[in-house]
Amino acid sequence: MKALIPAAGLGSRFLPVTRVIPKEMLPIGAKPALELIVEEAKAAGAEEIVIVISPGKELIREYFKDDPSISFELQTEQKGLGHAVFCAAERFRDEKECVLVLLGDALVSGCQASSEMVAMSKANNGAGVIGLERVPEEMVSRYGIVKLDDSDSKAPQITDIVEKPSVEEAPSDMAVAGRYLLDPQIFKLLADQKTGYGGEIQLTDAIRRLLEKKKVLGYVYPGKRHDIGNPKGYFKTLEAMNVNG
Ligand code: UTP
Repeated sequence: MKALIPAAGLGSRFLPVTRVIPKEMLPIGAKPALELIVEEAKAAGAEEIVIVISPGKELIREYFKDDPSISFELQTEQKGLGHAVFCAAERFRDEKECVLVLLGDALVSGCQASSEMVAMSKANNGAGVIGLERVPEEMVSRYGIVKLDDSDSKAPQITDIVEKPSVEEAPSDMAVAGRYLLDPQIFKLLADQKTGYGGEIQLTDAIRRLLEKKKVLGYVYPGKRHDIGNPKGYFKTLEAMNVNG
């Protein structure tokens, strides 16, 4: 299996430190967050990992230069997460299996999120899987929100997905939480994906089109997702992961 880690975002919520230090390289204990994410991808079975960086984030390339399983692609204009994923499309051209996508600023504690998603996919004929976390209703407009089928199954199917909906329009309170196992058709869909929320090319919008072609399941983490992309989230992460003492 191959994995893709988008880590080219501007990090504007964590300025000014992100002028020189990519948020993905902030320490969680003695390791950069991104190293924990790479370890999670490898534990889930990723043999090759492509990290998408921006020209200002060469520190990431420098840090991982001795790891032959990791290579890099550049996103030179920050046109959104979907665009960052598309920047690595060539690297997945011949891929048949689902690709594991891990956001470079999201950590999951309390479970082996990616490994568990891979196991769910295998148990369901290679279906796509998206990691989910329930969020308070007033927070739905910050996330991609999914609609799940109403089966009681442990592997519910995602029937719709919307990027940052209003509280009124949100199809549920289940938020996309930083880990995706996606059919490689996603790259074709991203090639002609129109700009969406915030004038960015949204991965969520391409996934919405993927749902028409491929089965995608929801995996509600038994653990917790942490967003290290802003100071408050970062310090809460350190506390939750018990690495600040
Ligand atoms: P965010 O949605 O947190 O966006 O990205 P951001 O631009 O990095 O942060 P702010 O809003 O300016 O503070 C989620 C993940 O997607 C990557 C980020 O690096 C992060 O790991 N991303 C986002 C890209 O690689 N490229 C983009 O154009 C946007």
